[in-house]
Amino acid sequence: MTSRIIGTGSYMPAQIVTNDDLAKVVDTSDEWIAGRTGIRQRRIAVGESACGMATEAARRALESAGIDPEELDLILVGTTSADHCFPSAACEVQGEIGAVNASAFDVSAACSGFLFAMNTMQAFIQSGMYRTGLVIGVDCLSKLIDWKDRGTCVLFGDGAGAAVLQASDTGICHTMMRSDGTKWRVLSCVSRTNGNLLNRKTPELGYLYMDGQEVFKFAVKRVPECIDQVLKESGTAVEEVKYFVLHQANYRIIESVAKRLKQPMDKFPMNMERYGNTSAATIPVLLDELNRSGKLNFGDKIVLSGFGAGLTWGATLLEW
Ligand code: COA
Repeated sequence: MTSRIIGTGSYMPAQIVTNDDLAKVVDTSDEWIAGRTGIRQRRIAVGESACGMATEAARRALESAGIDPEELDLILVGTTSADHCFPSAACEVQGEIGAVNASAFDVSAACSGFLFAMNTMQAFIQSGMYRTGLVIGVDCLSKLIDWKDRGTCVLFGDGAGAAVLQASDTGICHTMMRSDGTKWRVLSCVSRTNGNLLNRKTPELGYLYMDGQEVFKFAVKRVPECIDQVLKESGTAVEEVKYFVLHQANYRIIESVAKRLKQPMDKFPMNMERYGNTSAATIPVLLDELNRSGKLNFGDKIVLSGFGAGLTWGATLLEW
């Protein structure tokens, strides 16, 4: 028994912010941003909340799967920028879509959030505990960014993607997830705090902090390593894989992974040019685009791989 993806959906905010728009706010240029990252524009949530984006992506995924919300046993949301400290974004989405028979909670693994949530869903379904689940990756990092810091504000965007998983004989073949908590500082964001009665702390603003070069080195080492591992452990040759759907942070990271795996770039679809790094949303949004454009056929072997703050990283091999 395993689980398979039976439907996908995504939602991107309406407002487009181009590199030229950013060059009016910080000392940067389209040439610098596109040359170093592959990003040309991103979507920024103005009227949309994280829950609203996640709910719309969920509705589209359920419609594509052809199932009713009442059939869901579990909802997992990968996010680090939910609208509320509590309850979970998953409970909010559950309420919005009317998934009255599900339990729901969030998975906090930053940009690896969707992958970690999907692998967690797979474990629940594989164990026989649940049959049908909804996995969402949503982030709204625009509200955590210091818009005066050109080193980070050019990289990220907002959005949501979702997938419905169901018990099946074929589908997810192999998964791996890893973390290295000794490196949590290289990509982090302080929680906003008001202090308390006794410590009288001054309220702190929780801006995103990143050591870009450390993150770059980590990604180009760990991503090919974990893809190698899932392929080896499942007895799959790298040539059998049709697409490598990687976290969309930077095209240079993806090029480096392709080189290390000795695979052609056309096996590595990308959309960061249009959306930037949407954190937990990048993988399900790209998967939804591939699915809706008819590029995925039954039995195709696909590798998903995510990496991000924690540090966290992982990969999943599946048959479409
Ligand atoms: N526009 C113009 N110049 C910029 C800039 C911007 N947006 N951001 C930084 N710079 C400048 C720096 O100030 C620095 O100037 P200096 O040499 O005068 O000090 C110079 O560009 C080089 O900065 P550096 O940080 O060394 O650039 P880099 O080549 O490492 O590229 C990243 C920066 C962020 C693009 C790159 O490190 C990266 O992609 N890292 C991975 C980030 C990532 O993927 N994070 C998410 C993971 S989930």
